[in-house]
Order: sequence, then C-alpha cells, then structure tokens
Amino acid sequence: MGSEQPAWIGAAVAVAVILSIEALAGHVDTALIVSAVLALVAGGLLGRTRRPVTLPPREPGLPARHAVAEALLANIPDPVILVDRRVVVMEANPAARRLLPGLKLRHPLSFFLRAPDILDGIEEVLRTGTSLTVDYVARVPTERAFAVQIGALPMPDGPSGGEPNIVLFLRDLTEARRLEAMRVDFVANASHELRTPLSALLGFIETLQGPARDDARAREQFLGIMRTQAQRMTRLIDDLLSLSRIELREHVAPTRPVDLARIARQLVDMQAPLARERGIELTVEAPDTPMRVLGERDELLRVIENLVENAMKYGGSGGVVTVSLHRLDRTGGRPDRIELRVADAGPGIAPEHIPRLTERFYRVDVASSRQQGGTGLGLAIVKHSLNRHRGRLSIESELGRGTTMRVTLPEYRPEPAEAVPVQE
Ligand SMILES: Nc1ncnc2c1ncn2[C@@H]1O[C@H](COP(=O)(O)OP(=O)(O)O)[C@@H](O)[C@H]1O
Ligand SMILES: [Mg+2]
Repeated sequence: MGSEQPAWIGAAVAVAVILSIEALAGHVDTALIVSAVLALVAGGLLGRTRRPVTLPPREPGLPARHAVAEALLANIPDPVILVDRRVVVMEANPAARRLLPGLKLRHPLSFFLRAPDILDGIEEVLRTGTSLTVDYVARVPTERAFAVQIGALPMPDGPSGGEPNIVLFLRDLTEARRLEAMRVDFVANASHELRTPLSALLGFIETLQGPARDDARAREQFLGIMRTQAQRMTRLIDDLLSLSRIELREHVAPTRPVDLARIARQLVDMQAPLARERGIELTVEAPDTPMRVLGERDELLRVIENLVENAMKYGGSGGVVTVSLHRLDRTGGRPDRIELRVADAGPGIAPEHIPRLTERFYRVDVASSRQQGGTGLGLAIVKHSLNRHRGRLSIESELGRGTTMRVTLPEYRPEPAEAVPVQE
C-alpha cells in the first residue's frame, strides 16, 4: 500500500500542474480544474482505503481479444471514451474523436470536454461505483444533445492510474428531440386548425339559440356558414387521416405496375367541370405509350389531384393549367424515370417559401388557403406518398410567371419473364 501513495500523488500533482498551466493560458476554467483535482484526490483516497491490487491471471489469447474489443469500439456509431481514475483519456473511438476533434490520449478529459456535469458525474461514479446518466449539449459545430452514460469498468481494486476505469457512452438524442419537437408542433397546429371552425360553429349555435332565435333570414345565412365550417373540419380530418395512413405504409414499396399517363388523364377528366367553372384551360399532354411505374393507383391519383387543385386555386388567375408527362433517359447508372409536370401561369411563389411548402400546415397565405378550402396538408401528403413510391417532388416558380411542380418516379421496366399485367 505504502508504495502506491507516491504514484497517485505524483500523478495528481502532474495533472494539477498541467491543468494550472492550461488555466494560465486561458484554456481551462477554474471550476473544471477544481473538479478534476477533486476527482483525483477522491480517486486517490478511495484507492488508499481499498484492498491491495490483485490482478487477474493473464488469459491466453488476450491480444486477440483486445483487437476484437478495439474493432468493436471502432464500429460503435456513438462516441465512447474510456478514462482512468485521474480522468485522463485512455481510449476514444472514432465517433468520440469526431465529436471532440482536439481529443488526445493520455491528456485530462477536461481539456477537451467543457462539461462540469460529466466531470462531476465521473467523480461520483468513481466514489460510488454506481453508473449514472447526465445530459450534455455540444454547441459546436451544430447543437447536438447527448445522454451520457457514465459507468465503472470492472477493474481490479486499487488506484490503477493509467488503466481505464470509467466508460463514457454518449447517446445522440438530437434526432429524437427534433422528432419530439415536430410531434408537439404538429399536435398544437392540428388542434388549432380544428379549434377555429369549432369556435365559429359554437358561436353561431349560441346566436341561433339566443338573439337570432326568431330571425328566419339570419338562420338561413348562419346555417350556410355553419355548413362551410363543418365541411372544413371534415376535410381537415380526412387529410390528417390520409397523411397518417400514408406514413404508416411509407416503408412498404408498392409492387403493382400502373400507367401514370392514364391516371393523369382520369384526374383531368374529373377536374374538367371545376376548371370550366373557373374559366381555366386544363389540359394533359402525354405520349400514347403507357408510362408505367410501380404504384398505388389511388395514392398517385391523390398526388396529381393535390397538384392540379393547387395550380387551379393559387395559379388559376393565369388561365391555363397543363399536366404533362415525359420519359427521362437514364443518367449515370440511374434507371429511366417518368416525369409528371403540373404547370400554371399564376402569380408564382417567392423563393423563401419554396423549401417549406411540404411542411405540414405551411401556407404562403393562410387566409387565401382557408378561403379556398385548403388545409395546409396537401403538399405534405404529396411528399410522403412520393417517398413511398421512391419518387421526388421539385418546385420551380418565378414571381409573376407561374409555378411548375415536377414529380419524378422510377419507370417500371420488367424483364420479359417477370412482366405483371398493368392494373386498370
Ligand atoms: N401552384 C401554386 N402557386 C402558388 N402557390 C402555391 C401553389 N401550390 C401551392 N402553393 C402554396 O403552397 C401552400 C401549401 O399547399 P398545400 O400543402 O397544398 O396546402 P393548401 O392548398 O391546403 O393550403 C399553399 O397554401 C400555397 O400558399
Ligand atoms: Mg393544396
């Protein structure tokens, strides 16, 4: 025992000196030095009160196992750092080096990681031997949130400076937190969207029960408004349900071939009366040959419907809406693709809005969308449907000239033996 004391004191002093030099150079703050030195002292004291060191007998084949352990560590996608009792870095996997680019082995962890909670946590684990988890937010280069699991490694007792004693496992929670924030936002938005027509309905019901009870003309007028509001709620619920249905099946790729040109023609026929009513010339241009893709007919019909409806609602003032289909030739090893364009000659969309249009409830002009019966979910539905169909949506628009929504999908080209008849 007596011979161990100088070793840990020496190490503590050496690290304290390094830390002080760093502090003077302005690299480390005092709180970190104090906690690091405290950790060392605690480690040393613990070491002194424990049983003498008994190393396990060296197992045959240890170098091979070491290589396996190292390979395992290298392949863990989350950062893992091993430190010794003095909180000096003994091992760090590639993910840890990416997170802390200056990280060097055999230097105190506090040089590279300014996180008092983690250092305090290590100290506590060294003292109690019980694992714990603390939060850590890395701010550079981008903000990332981690749950840091600090665990004691089963090492032989003793001060064991220079041998890994503590393992830090950093679990990246950034994506999970982002999804959680999106979910919360979505629920808030959906509730607000449903609440608005509901409040209007309640207001009119109260008026009809009270002041307007005997006013036949007001009753007619209010019932008309109530009907519109109830229809708006129905549309919103329908869109929310289709979005969640599509999301549920987003990873199940469709397996039946369908003719996209035929679906586009059917949709244009269905929309013809509305186009006529609004004075819009709605046309479809497609080659005579079938344009086959693997897809769900109803979902693809909804995709085209959403794009044509938008073109008529927001770009209809241009007087023409054109749906056209083209075959894009193979480029750089990619399969042939079918392109469907929906173009209008309306007022167009300012560039700052374009990247956000497929977000749920995002609208350039909420009032105009509502007035036209929009829910703000159409392009989100289009995006998720296309994800499922391995398709892509791109939006081109110029203010004052119009908008073109471009959908591309992989063309279905069966080997002669596996041809499946096209779905009607
Ligand atoms: N062809 C278009 N021309 C101009 N603006 C458009 C066009 N298509 C979509 N937009 C804008 O994108 C927004 C989002 O569209 P969408 O997700 O279908 O929701 P909604 O139509 O219910 O408002 C619309 O509110 C509108 O502001
Ligand atoms: Mg829409």
